[in-house]
Amino acid sequence: MGYNLTQKIIRSHLVSGTMQRGQEIAIRVDQTLTQDATGTMAYLQFEAMGIPRVKTELSVSYVDHNTLQTGFENADDHRFLQSTAAKFGVYFSRAGNGICHQVHLERFGIPGKTLLGSDSHTPTAGGLGMLAIGVGGLDVAVAMGGGPFHLIMPGVINVRLHGRLAPWATAKDVILEVLRRLTVKGGVGKILEYGGEGIKYLTVPERATITNMGAETGATTSIFPSDEVTRAFLRAQGREEVWVELGPDPDAVYDEVLDIDLSTLEPLVACPHSPDNVKPVREVGPLAVDQVVIGSCTNSSYLDLMKVAAILKGKTVHPNVSLVIAPGSRQVLTMLAQNGALADLVSAGARILECACGPCIGMGQAPPSGGVSVRTINRNFKGRSGTADARVYLASPETAAATALTGRLTDPRELGTPPVVALPEKFHVDDRMILPPADNPDDVEIVRGPNIKPLPVAGPLPESIEGRVLIKVGDNITTDHIMPAGARVLPLRSNIPAMSEYVFTAVDPSFPRRAREAGGGIIVGGENYGQGSSREHAALVPMYLGVKAVLAKSFARIHRDNLINFGILPLTFIEPADYDRLERDDVLQIDGLHRALREGAELEVKNVTRGFTIKARAQLTPRQVEIILAGGLLNYTRRARA
Ligand code: F3S
Repeated sequence: MGYNLTQKIIRSHLVSGTMQRGQEIAIRVDQTLTQDATGTMAYLQFEAMGIPRVKTELSVSYVDHNTLQTGFENADDHRFLQSTAAKFGVYFSRAGNGICHQVHLERFGIPGKTLLGSDSHTPTAGGLGMLAIGVGGLDVAVAMGGGPFHLIMPGVINVRLHGRLAPWATAKDVILEVLRRLTVKGGVGKILEYGGEGIKYLTVPERATITNMGAETGATTSIFPSDEVTRAFLRAQGREEVWVELGPDPDAVYDEVLDIDLSTLEPLVACPHSPDNVKPVREVGPLAVDQVVIGSCTNSSYLDLMKVAAILKGKTVHPNVSLVIAPGSRQVLTMLAQNGALADLVSAGARILECACGPCIGMGQAPPSGGVSVRTINRNFKGRSGTADARVYLASPETAAATALTGRLTDPRELGTPPVVALPEKFHVDDRMILPPADNPDDVEIVRGPNIKPLPVAGPLPESIEGRVLIKVGDNITTDHIMPAGARVLPLRSNIPAMSEYVFTAVDPSFPRRAREAGGGIIVGGENYGQGSSREHAALVPMYLGVKAVLAKSFARIHRDNLINFGILPLTFIEPADYDRLERDDVLQIDGLHRALREGAELEVKNVTRGFTIKARAQLTPRQVEIILAGGLLNYTRRARA
C-alpha cells in the first residue's frame, strides 16, 4: 500500500508514534514563523526556557499585524522582536516587508519541509508542498528550542480537482466551494490534500489561496504536491535549488475523497457572518456596498493585484465605495510600482495601504455603521472589521474589483472578458528588509519597553477544582469573541494585565470584572468552541484571570491545544444535553482530577448550586495530562529540561 503526500512528509519527520489515525504522533519541525501579535509572547516563552539559540533549520519573526503606531506600544514591541530575533538566531522581517505567509511563500518555503507557525493561516505554505501547521506561540517556542511538535494523526481527505476553471472563476471560489461543502467544522482532525489533473492549471499563489483558507474548515492543514508549477514559481523567485518533486504514490490511500469539477464553479461569496455561508454572487443582492478591501494573506499576491489593476485600469471607483488595497508584500508592491499597475490602481481611486494585515485584523479601515464591506480576506466574523454592526462578505479579488466599480455586489462575469495575467519569469527579489540574526548574540541586548510585561505562568493543577460558571456561550464562539483584536486591544499583546480588561467583552462586558471578583472559575461553551485564529491570548488571558476549565460540547483544535498549553482543562460533555442544565453563576466542583485524568476516566462534575451531577471527559493524551498537571507547557518543558 502506497503513501499519500501527507503521510510521506510526516513519515520523514516522525519522532514518535505510528501514523495511525487518531493516535498521538510527534514530528520534527524544520522551520518556524511568528508574527508580532503572537511573537512577543513566543519569544518571552522561548527566553523563559533558557535556550540561547533556536535549533530549527530556519526561524523567521515577521512584523505584519500591529503596524499602526498611534501609541508607543507597537513600536516598542517591534524593537523587542528585532532584538530577540538577533539574539536567538531568528531572521527578522521588518514592518513594511509584508504579510508573514506571503513573504514566507516567496522567500523561505521549501517543498517537503515542515513549518510550524504561530498564526492560524500558516497552512498557506502548503501551496508550495510544505506541511505547514498553525499553532499557539508556546508550541512554536518549544519547536524553536528543538522540541518536536505533538499532534493527533489526522485523517487525510483527497480533494480531487478536475477540469479547469471557467473565465472569472478563481482559486478563491475553489476554497469557498470547499467551505460550502465541509463547513467551518468539516476539516477538524483532517488534512486536505489536493490532487487531480486540475491542479496543474493552478499557480503557486492560487494554490496558496486555497491552502490558506482551508484553515476556515478547521483542518490541521492543506497541501498541494510539489510539481513543475512549484518549480516555476521557485525559479521565478531565484530559489529553484530548493525544489524537489513530491507527490503521493500511485496507490496512495485516503480516508475520504472530495471531487470538485473546476469547470462548474462560478464566482462565489461567503455571506455574513461565517466563511461557510457561501452562495453564488449572482444569487445575493442587489446589495449596495460601502467598502471594498483587497488584501490579506489569502489574496494579495502579485497575480491577484495585477488582475485587480487590469480591471480598474482607466475606470473610477464608484462614489459610494471606499476601495482599500493592501499588497501582500514589498516584493508585490515594488513590482506593481515598476510596471505601472500601481498607477492604474491609484488613478482609479484605490487607497493604498502598507504591506500588512491592516483591515483583516481590524487595524484601521473599519467600515461605516451598519455598512457592507466586500473583502478578499478569509474571515467575516461579526465585529472583526472593527464595526460591530457591519456585514462583511468574502469574495475573490475579481469580484471585489468589479464591486468597487459598480457600488453593488457584482458578478465579475458582467465585465466581459477577464484579464490574462501570467506568473512573471522573474520576481523582483530584494531581501534587504529581512535582517539575519547577529553573529555575536552575546553582544545583543534585548530591548524591553514598558509594554513588555512579565510572562504569567499557571501553577500546577490541584486535585479538585471548584468554581463559578463565569459565562455560558453558544456554538461556534471564535477566539475573536474570547479575546478581541482591533486597534485598541492588539497593541497590548505583550501586556497581559492590560489585555485582561477585554476578555469576552464582545459577548458580556462585565466578564472581566466578574472573573476577577470570583477569583476565576469555569467557562461553559457549545460546539466548536474557540474556532478562528490561533491567538493563544484567548487561553493565556483567561488563565491569568483564574479560569480553570472550559466545559464545552466540542472544541476547535488550535484553541483546545492552547488551553492545554496554558493549564486550562478542556472538558467535553458526555451528554451534550447537559449543556442546557447549566447556568451562569452555578458553582461546579470536580474532585479526584489527577487519577481520573491519568486513567482517562470520566469526570463527575457536581453542580453544587443545583444539586446534581453530570459527566464530562477530558480526552487527553498521556503527554497532555502531564502538561495540564504541571500547569501548562512552559512548566512541563522547563521540568523536562531540568
Ligand atoms: Fe494577517 Fe489576516 Fe492573514 S490578520 S496573517 S492577513 S488572516
